[in-house]
Amino acid sequence: MPDKELINSIEGYIDIHCHIVPHVDDGSRSSGQTLRMIDIAYRNGIRAMIATPHYEVGKYEANHEDIEKNFFKIQRLIAERYPDFNIFLGNEIFFSYGVVDSLYEGAIYTLAGTSYVLVEFSPNDKLDYIEKSLYEIVNAGYIPILAHVERYFEVMKSHRNVERLVDEGVYIQTNASTIAGRNGRAIRKKIMKLIKKGLVHFIGTDAHSDGKRSPELEECIDYLLKKTDEDTVELLLRTNAMHVLKNEDIDEEE
Ligand SMILES: [Fe+2]
Repeated sequence: MPDKELINSIEGYIDIHCHIVPHVDDGSRSSGQTLRMIDIAYRNGIRAMIATPHYEVGKYEANHEDIEKNFFKIQRLIAERYPDFNIFLGNEIFFSYGVVDSLYEGAIYTLAGTSYVLVEFSPNDKLDYIEKSLYEIVNAGYIPILAHVERYFEVMKSHRNVERLVDEGVYIQTNASTIAGRNGRAIRKKIMKLIKKGLVHFIGTDAHSDGKRSPELEECIDYLLKKTDEDTVELLLRTNAMHVLKNEDIDEEE
């Protein structure tokens, strides 16, 4: 787990969801591309990222040796370029049967070695299945963060669905691009409602490249400032992520 002093030294935003480790999923294709992604992230005020390569049984199962080799390589390159930029390792876990066992066995990375895990589902998965799966993770002693909540049709049908998940110990992440309006106004409106109700805990970039799916935050932050306030921006892009990196409760006071 990261050193607390190191975490306290991070200035700026923290992205808990991105695909910057090259050659291990459908994210970055080279160290060069990763560095271009970091340039964009840096310009957007990001100073730390938790790299979350996809973990999906039968699809993305890069071995840890490859992931770590590529991770440490970019970590070294990033440190040369931006000494004040930190990266950590995690996974974006596509939930399936056996995921909890794989977590116990260490075959899946939690976020930066903490108890927090980033979990995704298929957009059409039933609410009941998503709930049960997330509770299974909670009961196993991990703290699930639901990746890009806006994608799950049944979850998004009512804010009460999200509320129930949160009450049971699930945290919620949305993508910056959704707040920037890239997925349409209707879904942005729903996400803003959740944010105003305190039902969203993290904004991630879910960056996959330095092109269309890059780690941009500017439009997202502009919109948030228009509709909410600086405290909300700080909470969703920094404070809660700091708690994750320190493996603390999200609601704990600083
Ligand atoms: Fe992702």
